[in-house]
Amino acid sequence: MGRRLKKIAIFGSTGSIGASTLAVIQRHPDRYAVETLVAHARIDILWAQIQRFHPRQVGVADPVAAQLLRDRLHREIPDADQRPAVIEEADALTALASDSAVDIVVAAIVGTAGLASTWAAIQAGKRVLLANKESLVAAGALMMRTASASGATIIPIDSEHNAIFQCLPVGVPPSSAVEKLILTASGGPFRTLPASDFAHITPEDACRHPNWSMGRKISVDSATMMNKGLEVIEAAWLFGMPPERIEVVVHPESIVHSLVQFVDGSVLAQMGRPDMCTPIAHALAWPDRIESGVENLDLCAVSGLHFEAPDVVRFPCLRLAYEALQLGGVAPLTVSAANEIAVGAFLDGRLSFMQIPMLIEQTLEAVLAEGSAVYNPPDSIDTVLELDKQARAVAVAGINRMKVIGSQVRIPSKQQVVR
Ligand SMILES: NC(=O)c1ccc[n+]([C@@H]2O[C@H](COP(=O)([O-])OP(=O)(O)OC[C@H]3O[C@@H](n4cnc5c(N)ncnc54)[C@H](OP(=O)(O)O)[C@@H]3O)[C@@H](O)[C@H]2O)c1
Repeated sequence: MGRRLKKIAIFGSTGSIGASTLAVIQRHPDRYAVETLVAHARIDILWAQIQRFHPRQVGVADPVAAQLLRDRLHREIPDADQRPAVIEEADALTALASDSAVDIVVAAIVGTAGLASTWAAIQAGKRVLLANKESLVAAGALMMRTASASGATIIPIDSEHNAIFQCLPVGVPPSSAVEKLILTASGGPFRTLPASDFAHITPEDACRHPNWSMGRKISVDSATMMNKGLEVIEAAWLFGMPPERIEVVVHPESIVHSLVQFVDGSVLAQMGRPDMCTPIAHALAWPDRIESGVENLDLCAVSGLHFEAPDVVRFPCLRLAYEALQLGGVAPLTVSAANEIAVGAFLDGRLSFMQIPMLIEQTLEAVLAEGSAVYNPPDSIDTVLELDKQARAVAVAGINRMKVIGSQVRIPSKQQVVR
């Protein structure tokens, strides 16, 4: 008897993770069928994906783009039965993540825009392939609690968390056997750049990652090392580990994707080429293994594997994320929201690279000054979204106060040791 096709919904199909997911799916037509594709506005990419994968429905968040796509579908596919439905209304779009026809939801929208659909998929008990780390940063307690109630399986496709997932023994609570989790970081494009040159960094420089090809927001996050900070918070929720047992180590070759140190002194690492198709294929098929299209790692061709401590003075975003995790409550959500605003402003030329951590720190201070209630973790998704909106408003007001582009960044007062 043939195996039943697994039906997949990809939220963020037109992005970097979306494209890699479709590249893996394309290799396994006997296992997977694309049921749903969701994007924001890049309908040319979506159109090509519709023609190749024939989804039953597509979601387009931007109403103008949705109408353009609908018009094109009517023009070019005269038979209504062959056309996917186009959904644009926000609630209906979110509801696509809980569609009973879907087995696997790939959460690959960038930023807080991905929160509602990730939440819907978790609530509906789906297998959720999680790329949207911002969901766990903003609402980790809520997402994990809901997953255990609904039976949802969250499998991380962030390469570091997927590596840890692969290294952890199935069914053993990490706390009993694990000493610490070690997340590797490439160090980004400015790993060796002196602090004195940071004032000249442009968006193009920041988006030129040495090892990974990614969307613009996560590329800037890698350059500031906020990406690693968000990943520390994501790891804390996914694996139930406190911040002091999550270490970050810079590993410029991006071959060792992360490691787990056990109480008996053993250290397990997951290695491979820096290609997201590997963790995506792992998460799609788990506990099976399927071919991903990624070339084998040739160990003899690897010139060396290097590891060094991160520099939280040049990269204060990493320190800010650790502090937010330790503070708890709305602090991680605030850091993530302020970061998204800061990165958007940097990409638009309204903030300098060095002003990104300044804005995040100022926003966090302003939100924490509001009183003790900010130390309570948000207990509903509506509260999370409302608090996110408020943090963004504080960050936007902060940008308006930062009139001078390129002003000196404050050297962090607390040089927290991250190891
Ligand atoms: N890229 C990587 O290697 C990588 C690795 C680990 C984790 N991640 C995480 O994966 C997520 C996606 O990253 P990415 O690099 O793939 O980003 P990306 O290339 O910028 O793609 C973002 C995707 O989200 C869609 N989108 C944005 N706003 C939306 C909205 N309001 N409604 C619906 N769709 C929306 C975009 O649609 P349009 O194209 O139409 O704008 C696009 O499909 C991020 O959370 C990132 O941190 C990425």
